[in-house]
Amino acid sequence: MSFLSSFNSVIGKKPSLAIDIGTTSLKIVDITRSSKGLELRNYAILEDLGYLERANEAVQTSSLKISEDKLSRYLALMLERGHFSGRDAVASVPPFSAFSTLLELPVATDTEVRKVIELQAKQYIPLPLSAVTIDWIKVGERRDSSGTMKTQVMLAAIPNEQIATYRRAFKKIGLELHSVEIEGMSIARALTRGSAETTLIIDIGSRSTGLAIARSGFLYFSGQTDFSGGSLTQTIARGLNISDERAEDLKRARGLSGFGGEHELSTLIEPILDVIMSEGKRIISSYENAYQDKVKAVLVAGGGANLPGIVEYFSKYFALPSEKGNPFTQIKMPAGLDPVTASTGPLLAVALGLGMKELI
Ligand SMILES: Nc1ncnc2c1ncn2[C@@H]1O[C@H](COP(=O)(O)OP(=O)(O)OP(=O)(O)O)[C@@H](O)[C@H]1O
Ligand SMILES: [Mg+2]
Repeated sequence: MSFLSSFNSVIGKKPSLAIDIGTTSLKIVDITRSSKGLELRNYAILEDLGYLERANEAVQTSSLKISEDKLSRYLALMLERGHFSGRDAVASVPPFSAFSTLLELPVATDTEVRKVIELQAKQYIPLPLSAVTIDWIKVGERRDSSGTMKTQVMLAAIPNEQIATYRRAFKKIGLELHSVEIEGMSIARALTRGSAETTLIIDIGSRSTGLAIARSGFLYFSGQTDFSGGSLTQTIARGLNISDERAEDLKRARGLSGFGGEHELSTLIEPILDVIMSEGKRIISSYENAYQDKVKAVLVAGGGANLPGIVEYFSKYFALPSEKGNPFTQIKMPAGLDPVTASTGPLLAVALGLGMKELI
């Protein structure tokens, strides 16, 4: 078992590139800290890698191991086209390829927490300890039902093989991988850092939907379902007997806002969203029962957050204030970069949260 800090200790070299490695898309952000706070200097999104026609073009899927070669090629293309100058990077790992859990320990100091994890990791982590790298962070304190103060620690285990694959792919194109983090931790930081309200984040990607319960920038609880943006497109294509491309366009243009003859679209989309929402509700109740804390709000992120009508639909179901997640409340976007923050924000949330890690 090894612990994650930074992999190398090149003094004075701070990673400036944060890379979200999704299933069908890659996102790179370059964030800097100035006297004015955090600022986005540059970003690139490589979306829709032909996945509609060729399912095997995905960068990684829950059933397939990430393709090192593809990752190198796509990243090189983005770095070149986007004129990124930094070469030091951090990367995110999708929830289906890592493990995370919230521990409550009757100890407080970092040294004590580390010792407990070292001694007891085997009982918390369902993977051989020799094959994973451990990441942990104190996320809060709570008095449990018996009145004992507990320190809450988020523990994550990332397969060494995944880290090695990323590192090799990066090295091939001159990038140095400094550290990795699971997506849920990054998105929690990007969307809830300024808020003490416990929030359910629903990150609807193309192959999977990540669910995270977060507060004050920390992840507390997470889940995942394969029902996602891709499922919406497929169900529309089959239901209306049209091509995947046409279904994708229709989904983005109309979403749940269809009426009259387009009402059919909502009836196709809703059952998929209902599965995602019921998974969200299940996670809310597991969290609330285990930790005697109430979830007070819902944030929708990932490309799926841009589905017309989705926020209203979720808000009605959860009966909680619901919004599209906006990481740009914490990071300034300078003039000259794409001003359409309302739709790029949810897409970049993971990458931005990852980039913030080293800067706050
Ligand atoms: N305007 C829109 N309306 C509806 N869906 C959209 C819109 N824009 C993008 N999407 C969907 O968002 C999904 C891609 O989102 P995102 O970039 O967050 O996924 P990803 O990170 O690559 O995937 P994953 O998180 O599964 O690894 C696709 O399914 C795409 O169809
Ligand atoms: Mg994603």
